Amino acid sequence: MADESGSPFEPKIVAFCCNWCTYAGADLAGGMRLKYEPNFVTVRVMCSARVSPHFIIRAFQEGADGVFIGGCHIGDCHYVKGNYITAKRVAIMKRLLEFLGIPKERLHLVWIAASEGDKYAREVDAFTEKVRAMGPSPLKQVRFWKDATVSKKIYKSEAAAETPAGA
Ligand code: FES
Repeated sequence: MADESGSPFEPKIVAFCCNWCTYAGADLAGGMRLKYEPNFVTVRVMCSARVSPHFIIRAFQEGADGVFIGGCHIGDCHYVKGNYITAKRVAIMKRLLEFLGIPKERLHLVWIAASEGDKYAREVDAFTEKVRAMGPSPLKQVRFWKDATVSKKIYKSEAAAETPAGA
C-alpha cells in the first residue's frame, strides 16, 4: 500500500505512555537494545488517565494512523484508580471513533510494567503491523481542508463567485 506521495505506506502512531510503567518499559527495551518498529511518536504522561478523549481525537485530527495508550497493570496505578478510568474511557472512545468512521482497532490500550521491556517491543511491533495492514487513517482523506494551497484555491473560487460580473 502506498501513501499520497506514492511511497510505501508507513503508519504514524502517537503513543501516550504512563511515566511509571510503560515509559519505563520503553526505556528498558532501549537499554536491552531490542529492535522494534520506529513508527511511534511517544508522549510521556504521568498516568494513563491523563489521556483525555481530546488528546485521542486531536492525534487523529493531526494525522495519526493509530493511537497507542500504555499504562500500569490494573492494581499498580500510582494514582490508585487511574487505569480503571482509562479502561472505561477507552471502551467509550472506541465506540465514538466507530461513530466518526475511524475503525476502533486504531486505538490500542495495553498495560506494560517497567520490567516488561520485551513486552513493550512486541506490542510496538504488533500494533504497527496491524495499523500498516489497515492503511492510512480515513481522517487523512479529509485533511486537505488544512492544506494551505487548497484553502487558498477555495478562498479564490469563493471570492470569484461573489464578485459581480463586470466588476
Ligand atoms: S500511574 Fe500508570 S496508569 Fe496510572
